[in-house]
Parts: sequence; C-alpha cells; structure tokens
Amino acid sequence: MTINRKEFLRQVGLGAFGALAAPALLARETAIAPPVALPAFDGQKPEDFWRAVRAQYASLDPTLVYFNTGGLGPASTPVLNAFTRVMLERQKESDTGHEQFAPARKVAARFFQAQPEEICLTRNTTEGTSIVASGLRLAAGDEVIIDSHAHPGGSIPWYNQHKIRGVVVKVFEPDPAGPDGNLERIRALITARTKVIQISHVTSPTGIILPAAAIGRLAHEHGAWFHIDGAQSGGMFPFAVRDLGCDSYATSGHKWLGGPHETGIFFIRRERLDDVAPSGIGAYSGSLPHLPGELTYTPSAVRYEYGTRNAASVVALAEALKFQEAIGRERIADRGRTLAAHLRRGLEKIPGVEILTPAEAGLSGSILTFHTPKLGYEKMFGKLWKDYRLRCRPVDEQGLDAVRVSLHVFNFPDECDHLVGAVGEILKKT
Ligand SMILES: Cc1ncc(COP(=O)(O)O)c(C=O)c1O
Repeated sequence: MTINRKEFLRQVGLGAFGALAAPALLARETAIAPPVALPAFDGQKPEDFWRAVRAQYASLDPTLVYFNTGGLGPASTPVLNAFTRVMLERQKESDTGHEQFAPARKVAARFFQAQPEEICLTRNTTEGTSIVASGLRLAAGDEVIIDSHAHPGGSIPWYNQHKIRGVVVKVFEPDPAGPDGNLERIRALITARTKVIQISHVTSPTGIILPAAAIGRLAHEHGAWFHIDGAQSGGMFPFAVRDLGCDSYATSGHKWLGGPHETGIFFIRRERLDDVAPSGIGAYSGSLPHLPGELTYTPSAVRYEYGTRNAASVVALAEALKFQEAIGRERIADRGRTLAAHLRRGLEKIPGVEILTPAEAGLSGSILTFHTPKLGYEKMFGKLWKDYRLRCRPVDEQGLDAVRVSLHVFNFPDECDHLVGAVGEILKKT
C-alpha cells in the first residue's frame, strides 16, 4: 500500500510539523511503520506474540541477526516515532522542552520502583557512575572495590579518582559458581579504608548476575557506599532498585531498555543525596537567583542534570520503558533466559565450544558467552559477521577470548539455530 505524504505525516503524528521536516529525515522515517497494538500473549502459541513484537522493530535490518543488545539495543518503532515527533515539535518552536523531563522522570521512577526525586536522566551508564566517583568525598588512601570484569565505563571513573586524589582501586574476579564465592572474594578485600563497593549487576563479558542485595548488606556492614553498574541489567529483567540494597544505580537507555542512543538513568537514594556532591553542574542543578549569592542545590537527583538537553531523547526513553511494560517485564526476562537456554543446548553439542556463562538459575539471564580455543575470538566474531550476518560481540576482556551473544525480545529460536550451525561449520573448516 502506498500512502501520500500528508497521510504519512498524519500516521506518524507529525501533522502540521511535516512542513518543517528535513527531506533526509523524512526519507529515513518513511521506512518506519506506524506502531500496532500487541496481541494478548497465548502460552500455546508464544511465537505469534514474539513475531508481533518483532514487527515493532521495523528499522532493524532484516538481512542481519542482531545479537548485540548488550552493546547497543535497537529502538522500536514507537520509540523512534516519539523521538522524531518531539524533535520536530521542539525545533518548530526552537524550544528545549525541558518541562517534558518531569513526566519522563515519573515513568522511569515507576519502572524502577523509586521516587521521581531519586531519578537523574543521564546520557549513559558511565555518566551515572562518574557522578558517584567524582561526587563522593574520597581522600588519598580511601579504597574502592570493583569487579575485574567492569566495563571501562565502570572502571575508568574510579581509576580517574586514583589519578586525581590517590584513591586505591582494588579488584575482585567475579565467581561464576555462585553468590558465596563472590561474597568471599569481596570480603577478603575489605579493610577499614574501604569506602565504596561497586559491582556490575550483570557482568558485561560473560553475563554473570552478581548477588547485589547480599553484597549491599556486606558493604553497609562496613559503612561503604554500594554502587551498581546496571548497564546490562536495566531492561534485561525486572527488579525494584531499592531491593538491590544499593545507594546508587546507573544504567543505559540505549541497551536492554531499547531507548534512543545517548540516554541513561541514574538512581540515588533520596536520603543519600548530600553525600554525593554534584560535579557537572549548572542551570537546573540548583538555584542562584542573584549574584553574588548562595547556591542551593535542587532537592532531588535533578541536581546532577544541567544545561540544555534534548527533550526528544528523554520522551522517547519513557516510551521505551512503556513499551517494555506493554510486553511484560517478567515475560521479557523469561524470553531472554529461554533463548539463552536454547542456544546453550545447541552450542554444547559442538566439540570445541566452551560456554563461559553459568547455567544455573539466577546466575545468568539473557547473555551467553562462548569460547572456541581452536579459533581466536576475533576470527570467530569476524566470520560470524562477514559470512553469516550474525552480529555478536567480541570479548577480549581479561584474556577471555570469547564471543558474546545477547538475546532480546526481537530474537527467535531459529536465529539461535542459525548461530549454532554457523559456529559448527566454522569450526569444522578450521
Ligand atoms: C557493565 C557496563 N558498564 C558500563 C557500560 C558503558 O555503557 P555506556 O556507554 O552507556 O555508558 C557498559 C557498556 O557496554 C557495560 O556493559
């Protein structure tokens, strides 16, 4: 069916703003179908439901299989439409639309079961972790414990504090065998100078879920701040952020949550706001009505936001959260686990494949990482991409020499089978 331009603009909700749309933008947007309502989930025919979800990812190239949500998650049609609509509305009035942050913040608070005052709308996970690392009043010799699988976005903010203030960074190796080993490894590093414990909620290279609440209790027994790098957990499975026992939590909008690029959510417990001094700061962070004068911080996590921002990004991020709620958050987690188990069963049958992600319930979710000693990770990753159009993620961290597969709502069991077949063929030819 072809539609004329006026009808297209009506369908994507642009209406009168269409006259302002740049031709390149329109050309790209015509490829995005208007959103359709999701059917009710029928446990007898689950794939029908997931096909309807997949249809909401009209912008995702159908000639490739996308297994890299842990790197960057594609945005669904409702998200892209919200982004485009708000951007054009705001450009029409040449207005920032800052008042659109408050409703988006409320949606984020509902999603993570926090209070809106505890939510800062950031640009990525790294920004949230940097707020904590630079804002806590740490002194030379104070100690921070992080996991050795931390992404640079989780480790560099602390190593920067080492450079600037002489903070000591200690590292524990995540134990894939379960919670006890992780608690023991962290406990062994704690001293009277331990001021911060940070974990990756789900480790980026191999997808191990670390026991956040138990580690939080351990941190608080020793008076340490507990920060969670949640880049890989926000949107992978549901939780109430307060139940994690953390003082602060940072995640990205542009991974498992399916928000636009350069979006993030940072949570900080309301009662601990004054322990983290804002470092990047300006308009919106506080009030300073006259100069000279006294600066008062905004009495919420908004104190960490500043300056002109893109309202389209945060409105579209809120749309992404609502889209996940519409699918069902437990259903999303279950889908990821089911696909990961399906893929595991296939890969386990191939001689020469070692799976690095733990299989036990509760120790992993929607990520599966495998190692093929016969062929290095770069070659395996490269062949999967070039010869089979399978987009995974190479894992070189800590010498792991592996390939990571992220499984999300738009993926299917037959895509996992395609990957299994490809790995088998590649190894046979090696
Ligand atoms: C555990 C972890 N932390 C932080 C990051 C950085 O995320 P961002 O670039 O959104 O800050 C990533 C990215 O993959 C990650 O996996």
